[in-house]
Amino acid sequence: MQYAFVLGRVYTLSLAELIAVLEKADPALNLNGDPVKITEASEEVLIVETPAPLKAEVLQKRLGGSIKILQIVDTIKKRPQDSVNFALKHYFRPSTLRKQFLKEYKGKIQIGMSIYLLDPELARRPSPNASEKNPQISIFTEPKRIGMMAKKTLTESGYSVRLVLPEYNSLALASVVVTKNLLLQKGAEICILAGKEVVYTAKTLTVQDFEDYGRRDYQRPARDEKQGMIPPKVAQIMLNLSGAKAGETLLDPFCGIGTMVQEGLLLGYRMLGSDINKQAIKGSEQNLEWFRNRYKIAPGKYHFETADARHIHKLLETQKISSIVSESTLGPIYSTYPKKSEIDTNFSDLQTLYRETFKEFLKILPAGGRIVICIPAYRRGKDEYDTLPSLDWAKDLGYNCIDLISPVLAKKLKFLKLTARNTAIYDRKDQIVAREIAIFQKQ
Ligand SMILES: C[S@@+](CC[C@H](N)C(=O)[O-])C[C@H]1O[C@@H](n2cnc3c(N)ncnc32)[C@H](O)[C@@H]1O
Repeated sequence: MQYAFVLGRVYTLSLAELIAVLEKADPALNLNGDPVKITEASEEVLIVETPAPLKAEVLQKRLGGSIKILQIVDTIKKRPQDSVNFALKHYFRPSTLRKQFLKEYKGKIQIGMSIYLLDPELARRPSPNASEKNPQISIFTEPKRIGMMAKKTLTESGYSVRLVLPEYNSLALASVVVTKNLLLQKGAEICILAGKEVVYTAKTLTVQDFEDYGRRDYQRPARDEKQGMIPPKVAQIMLNLSGAKAGETLLDPFCGIGTMVQEGLLLGYRMLGSDINKQAIKGSEQNLEWFRNRYKIAPGKYHFETADARHIHKLLETQKISSIVSESTLGPIYSTYPKKSEIDTNFSDLQTLYRETFKEFLKILPAGGRIVICIPAYRRGKDEYDTLPSLDWAKDLGYNCIDLISPVLAKKLKFLKLTARNTAIYDRKDQIVAREIAIFQKQ
């Protein structure tokens, strides 16, 4: 079976998370721990082959970095010079549409059409349909052309069809549009994954529940705009990168108002949260009380304490943890790029804190236990950052730095945005202080 995952905006992290999840043995997801077989990958989408059907709905809820899960329906050859719609000219037959995309629904149907690119060049070149008379024809006209072909076929065979198309200058429907138009309930979203010499057709199985992520972030009773909170999706990605098994206990020693703890509970972990700030722990407790009721979490699955991470082992005399997943303090937050001297001071202070806390973590982690942590990176320009000068202090203490993506795969997937030390940066356009996500393993 072939599946495609539509990757989130920070696609390097999305892809790293997917590989971590797909390569972990997990009967709940029908996964046996074998290496993932990648058919194709681009900035937009990852196509994989699996020996058994995936449990897409369960998987979708577990992935912070994937926007949609699609099932590949057909693979169609295409000549490089052909447009996508030309390659699909004879594809949309009533029987194909009924059997592959619509079999669960009768009556008035809604069809969505999205294109994802396996070859980014397709968006840069003028479309093969462009002519001197019509030079503006670009790839962005393709969803409409292909959607109209599918709609015509269905209308002619007696269906009443409403076609939902991407916005101007966009090739794909946002997950919110798929959800709001009930495309998966009342029809289908047909996705076209377009490469240079091949076009895949795919059916959307699930989309990310954007409303639920919003609730988990903004509806919590306690917030802390001053220290900042990690977005739930990023917390989920980091938890997945820990590789911990469901049921194990994870620690967030800089837990703030408890985002990592709540997301860990949803993934099936037991969670411990601690923070030096009493107010933060009060906020965490309030938030988790709300969260526990809303998401039906069994009592006793989490615990909070006020504690300095530099002396955390005292808290854990009776508890065993398998991993640490945390957004540590990121230092001051800036609205403009700070002076070099300020950055140097921040990094020096943080390095002292990291050295002290990582030394402490050696006492509570088992051999092979991981630390997945966010450290600040200052955005100088597009894709340019000042990062903590070195991670050697961690190696000196007895940790290995784990590659976010294996070097063999990174060499193949040249589009990935990895740092020189094989970490990745989660940033937002409006923020100077971005988060570098690094993984360490106790030797
Ligand atoms: C960026 S915030 C974490 C926010 C959290 N991820 C959330 O979403 O709410 C960093 C936290 O580290 C805590 N902190 C700073 N130094 C600490 C230390 N030495 N030990 C424990 N916590 C510390 C701060 O009080 C702050 O709440």
